[in-house]
Amino acid sequence: MLLQVENVSKSFHKGQQVLQHVNVYVGHGEIVGLVGESGSGKSTLAKIIMQLERANQGHIYFNDVEITKKNCSSFYEHCQLIFQNATAALNPMWTVKESLLEPLQYKKTVTNNDLHAMLDKVKLPVAVLNCLPNELSGGERQRVNLLRSLLVEPKLLVCDEIVSSLDRLTQREIIDLLITLNKEQHMAILFISHDLKAVSYLCEHLYVMKDGKIADEGKKEHGVFQLTNSYAQKLFQAMG
Ligand SMILES: Nc1ncnc2c1ncn2[C@@H]1O[C@H](COP(=O)(O)OP(=O)(O)OP(=O)(O)O)[C@@H](O)[C@H]1O
Ligand SMILES: [Mg+2]
Repeated sequence: MLLQVENVSKSFHKGQQVLQHVNVYVGHGEIVGLVGESGSGKSTLAKIIMQLERANQGHIYFNDVEITKKNCSSFYEHCQLIFQNATAALNPMWTVKESLLEPLQYKKTVTNNDLHAMLDKVKLPVAVLNCLPNELSGGERQRVNLLRSLLVEPKLLVCDEIVSSLDRLTQREIIDLLITLNKEQHMAILFISHDLKAVSYLCEHLYVMKDGKIADEGKKEHGVFQLTNSYAQKLFQAMG
């Protein structure tokens, strides 16, 4: 198993239980979906996985090693997070090239050829390298974020609502790109979304979150998630 989230609970200072005994598993090269209503705790879980928030209880293992503060930096070489807000994730003063190279400065050298090949993969023209984030469209900015994460060649990509603010066509292009990357690089993906259609298209395994708990989970068989809980079934029926 690549990622194991075991018995994770979290409450913030007001005492509100945001996560309760959450278990989520992502296998090597697997695409796993996490859906749930707004406020159900999905982003909090993503932040806890990425060590941006501390759980009150529970354990997270990556490649069978528990993630702690000490081994966190090597964990980031293998696990990357992309947020919905592509604009906030990029430094407005940096060109795309500076943003892309910044996470790599201590790791490895990337030649211009490598960079151009990667730009091609995410369908961005070479000209964007000299642009500032505000000179790009939302879809282009999200592609830059994706590329920024991909350059470190992660084993797991955590995507928190990354296509929500994009039009349908751009959403589909980014999702197809994730599928290609998953196949070519065997990169596992935890795809957090409100969009059940996108999740049904992309993911092989689904977790449904409600009020901070995993309400249901199921594998996809013949294009349909095998869910037993009535809440999860209702969610999918509402999708039509
Ligand atoms: N830093 C924080 N301090 C206090 N409460 C917080 C904090 N972060 C999140 N919460 C609360 O935790 C709950 C879950 O929030 P979270 O952002 O995880 O939900 P979500 O499922 O990602 O929602 P959405 O689908 O709208 O993105 C919310 O009630 C939120 O107010
Ligand atoms: Mg969220």
